Amino acid sequence: MFIDTHVHLDEFDNLEEILNRARGVGVRGFVSVGYDIQSSKFSYSVSLKYNDVYAILGIHPHSAGECTDKFLGWICSVKDSKKVLGIGEIGLDYYRNLSPKDIQLEAFEKQLSLAQDLELPVSLHIRNGYRDAFDILKRYKVKGVFHCYSGGLHFLEEALSFGFFIGFDGPVTFHNARELIEVVERCPLDRILLETDAPYLAPEPYRGRRNEPSYLIYIARRIAEIKEIDLGELSEVTRKNTIICFPRYAS
Ligand code: NI
Repeated sequence: MFIDTHVHLDEFDNLEEILNRARGVGVRGFVSVGYDIQSSKFSYSVSLKYNDVYAILGIHPHSAGECTDKFLGWICSVKDSKKVLGIGEIGLDYYRNLSPKDIQLEAFEKQLSLAQDLELPVSLHIRNGYRDAFDILKRYKVKGVFHCYSGGLHFLEEALSFGFFIGFDGPVTFHNARELIEVVERCPLDRILLETDAPYLAPEPYRGRRNEPSYLIYIARRIAEIKEIDLGELSEVTRKNTIICFPRYAS
């Protein structure tokens, strides 16, 4: 049994079918992550509808302009729901730079500050911005996960030094993922979280196609193989890690 700690459920028309297929292969929990206002609201409402669905609410760097006080106020209005696990996905994306850098930095800091005030963990999306992200994180008292970690070996020790978890997704299954495999080897087992980021980043053997949470099993198998442990042990450790990272996750 595995938990998909990062999926975008708003991207699926056939949600019931997608969830059932994942449950059928042993995915026991789904964390639906917002990336703009609409997907955050969807994640919140879908978390109220299903027992095994949870929500993370926030504005992605690509949509940084949507991070208004009104939106942050809405998060505050639903913050006490046990299904709201944290703030995300928030961060910096200097790879695609779809929002100006100053707007990204402002949205990131506003949401880190909110997470700190609400004592909620964060799910971070960082691409080509690890140096800036670390410098900013030093000023906040927050914990969470580096979602779909892409900082390579170079930034791994520093990422771990913040007490954060490291999220691994489909790319660990790619044949050319040499450095990422070494990152998995070096990342302590008690810091690993499993994510699909579906519908994006489908693992092998579905690379390039549309991802879905049932494919989490391919990511889990590959990590178990790299770590030389059995799937049962990986399931147990990642379940504990999920609860430590997101204390409101209860199952
Ligand atoms: Ni995502």
